[in-house]
Amino acid sequence: MNKISFNKKIFNPKIFQTVENVLKSGWLTHGKYTSLFEKEFSKYVKSKYAVTVSSCTAALHLSCLACGFKKGDEVIVPSMTHVATAHAVEYTGAKPVFADINLYDGNISLNEVEKKVSNKTKGIIVVHMAGSICDMKKIQSFCKKKKIKIIEDCAHALGTVSNNTFAGNFGISGCFSFYPTKQITTGEGGMLTTNNYSFYKKVKKLKAFGIDKDIDKRKKQGTYNVQLLGYNYRMTDFQAAMGYNQILNYKKNLKLRKKLAFLYSKILSNNSNIKLPKFDKESSYFIFQIFIKKNIRDKILKFFKNNGIGVSIHYAKPIPDMIYYKKKYKLNLNNFNNSKIYADTNISLPISEYMSVEQVKYICKKLLLAIKIYDK
Ligand SMILES: Cc1ncc(COP(=O)(O)O)c(C=O)c1O
Repeated sequence: MNKISFNKKIFNPKIFQTVENVLKSGWLTHGKYTSLFEKEFSKYVKSKYAVTVSSCTAALHLSCLACGFKKGDEVIVPSMTHVATAHAVEYTGAKPVFADINLYDGNISLNEVEKKVSNKTKGIIVVHMAGSICDMKKIQSFCKKKKIKIIEDCAHALGTVSNNTFAGNFGISGCFSFYPTKQITTGEGGMLTTNNYSFYKKVKKLKAFGIDKDIDKRKKQGTYNVQLLGYNYRMTDFQAAMGYNQILNYKKNLKLRKKLAFLYSKILSNNSNIKLPKFDKESSYFIFQIFIKKNIRDKILKFFKNNGIGVSIHYAKPIPDMIYYKKKYKLNLNNFNNSKIYADTNISLPISEYMSVEQVKYICKKLLLAIKIYDK
């Protein structure tokens, strides 16, 4: 079997052609693909609005700004996520307050959220880990009672659904990532979804310097005004062209991911040495996560590497254990026990629309063999 990459993308010729056309057109930003991508994306996730941005981190930061989070406020975030989730809060001067997660879906635990809420809590950022949705019904009803704003970090959750609603529609905004490992990619890039018109207008201004008029609405070239301190978080039009082509085909991509996830689940779920969440037909399967005993996890990672199979860890270190946060907020990892276990035992197996049934069977065969060798 040839090497199996964890996340190599194979772009179709149409993407190369469209990107070339954008480069030749001279409209490298503010072009037609930016609005085409936004329209197609909001159509797919069924949100009223979608705004292209330079990354998911930018979408999270803009969301926190548009929610008005500031110094003195607290925003609850999961302790096991990409550091970007917490950074977005930190950028505004508000304090990220960490809540532990559930084993083994990796999502924020509502019990922990209830313990961490205070009269300073203004918001929560939920992360749908690996593509599996958080318990949004319970989180929504809790947040409504406490008047807390919900932001969804959907970096893993493009196409995740719950109760006929796509991730990205459960809070004030949804923040998506198009980093190269993600289900669709624009190199770097992201999308912010919302169903709130005034939030949308605010985000549009904040993402482009605070300028009050889009380029096509200016009567005289270069004439605009600025009422607030905005950023430059725009996406280029050639990136938007890449994203547009991929979102058009995303249903097919997701169907293949689910087929492979089902196969992984079927083969691996009967082995007592491997823990994995139940197959979820509504998950976007950004990665396929399994959990292996701490004392053999790293040996198995090495075994995969030696056998030419690309695997990863999401994530290897809970955020309260990252020096910046640990020092600043005097955090102790012992208060985040589930995150600690998660970090020490998870392995992300590769899953993508470019993989075959044979490759998944091969990965499972190798994994079961490795467990036999090391788990003595
Ligand atoms: C859960 C989560 N949130 C946020 C981000 C940041 O995304 P980006 O790299 O697009 O800024 C990532 C990145 O991989 C992520 O996994």
